[in-house]
Amino acid sequence: MDFTATLLFFALLISTVRALDPCASQPDNSDLSVIPIYGKCSPFNPPKPDSWLNTVINMASKDSARVKYLSSLVAQKTTPVPIASGQQVLNIGNYVVRVKIGTPGQLMFMVLDTSNDVAWVPCSGCTGCSATTFSPNTSSSYGSLDCSLPQCAQVRGLSCPDTGTSACSFNQSYGGDSSFSAYLVQDSLRLANDVIPNYAFGCINTISGGSVPSQGLLGLGRGPMSLLSQSGALYSNVFSYCLPSFKSYYFSGSLKLGQVGQPKTIRTTPLLKNPHRPSLYYVNLTGVSVGRVRVPIAPELLAFNPNSGAGTIIDSGTVVTRFVQPLYEAIRDEFVKHVKGPFSRIGVFETCFDATAEAETPLITLHFEGLSMTLPMENSLLHTSAGSRACLAIAPVPNNVNAAMNVIANLQQQNYRILFDVANSRLGIAREACN
Ligand SMILES: *[C@@H]1O[C@H](CO)[C@@H](O)[C@H](O)[C@H]1NC(C)=O
Ligand SMILES: *[C@@H]1O[C@H](CO)[C@@H](O)[C@H](O)[C@H]1NC(C)=O
Ligand SMILES: *[C@@H]1O[C@H](CO)[C@@H](O)[C@H](O)[C@H]1NC(C)=O
Repeated sequence: MDFTATLLFFALLISTVRALDPCASQPDNSDLSVIPIYGKCSPFNPPKPDSWLNTVINMASKDSARVKYLSSLVAQKTTPVPIASGQQVLNIGNYVVRVKIGTPGQLMFMVLDTSNDVAWVPCSGCTGCSATTFSPNTSSSYGSLDCSLPQCAQVRGLSCPDTGTSACSFNQSYGGDSSFSAYLVQDSLRLANDVIPNYAFGCINTISGGSVPSQGLLGLGRGPMSLLSQSGALYSNVFSYCLPSFKSYYFSGSLKLGQVGQPKTIRTTPLLKNPHRPSLYYVNLTGVSVGRVRVPIAPELLAFNPNSGAGTIIDSGTVVTRFVQPLYEAIRDEFVKHVKGPFSRIGVFETCFDATAEAETPLITLHFEGLSMTLPMENSLLHTSAGSRACLAIAPVPNNVNAAMNVIANLQQQNYRILFDVANSRLGIAREACN
């Protein structure tokens, strides 16, 4: 081989290796990798789980607190949910995206949360944060925001003094068992090739509890402080994501911001806005089928209620779909009619059975106004590591949460493109192999 050929060979080799490396940076566009926290590409580098069921059970064990937290996101200012004593679990959210903050950009892996508005990151000097923090000092585009500014009035848990000027500060609870205090600041936010200048976010200075995402959180909720609102015309109130399979250790999904690259033809259901919980994405769930049987459920148990906040939301931060008790029981009771028992409980899943009976298991269909979503088996069943038991992967809304709210969670959304077309008040759902 002459020199040029050798060079070419190595260039090709490098690009092939890069193409095969699922953790390589994305090309410059608005399509961002959505990295599962337990995946190989996660910067948090958790050990590869030996049992997916145990992993999911472990993740889902935080769901009760999550659902309670979601139900607390009501329009008026709330007092923080009390912090469970001594709990220091590592709960860093389920999916993270790579962003850069400041000038020059500082890399952070932020948790994607469709039910929160504000973004926040741990800042240097923070008490209780992990080692990776954003350093405002080294950013030339950083600015502080004070209590008199209109943005400041938008954050939950404001702790500004009644009089005088001071930095806009707030305290929030997160995940049901943790809280933090932060200052509202602004700086450039870079997502893939897009820069959003003067992005207002919380700069965390104190964390207590173990649930606050260690490199921050990117709020994709509906409120005025969310990414969609602050990016204005850039993303024209549209985004979508595709969450990779829970088991895809090596792969990532994608977040697409803005109109470009969104599916042109996709079935949609109306996106509802609930003034009682204005950050959350409500949809109109009209029923559930198990196999061909539409489970009996009084329509008022599914009804959307703008006063009480009852209804169904779609959320990127809850692991296992939760149904209000009567709906859950109706689904479970129909399911067990089709599958050979005996049934046992594993973690939050009470309908586990011998996996040899799996061939008979009926498909679960979620009926939304205008579209139905028939879940593939991998989105409705989970298996023990040895493969001997399978479990129906849905659960009831925890007893202590008086939310009357169904939560369509991420296990059921894997390998679907979920389009949040806020501009046209609709939610699109389409099968897609994200990985
Ligand atoms: C950052 O700024 C603070 C306050 O202005 C100062 O005390 C600190 O030493 C600075 N840190 C660095 C790393 O420059
Ligand atoms: C916010 O948190 C800080 C420290 O955790 C605490 O000192 C302060 O009292 C809290 N403020 C409010 C308004 O809760
Ligand atoms: C939900 O869909 C049902 C059936 O199409 C409809 O009757 C009901 O009005 C819808 N609810 C809302 C809040 O749009």
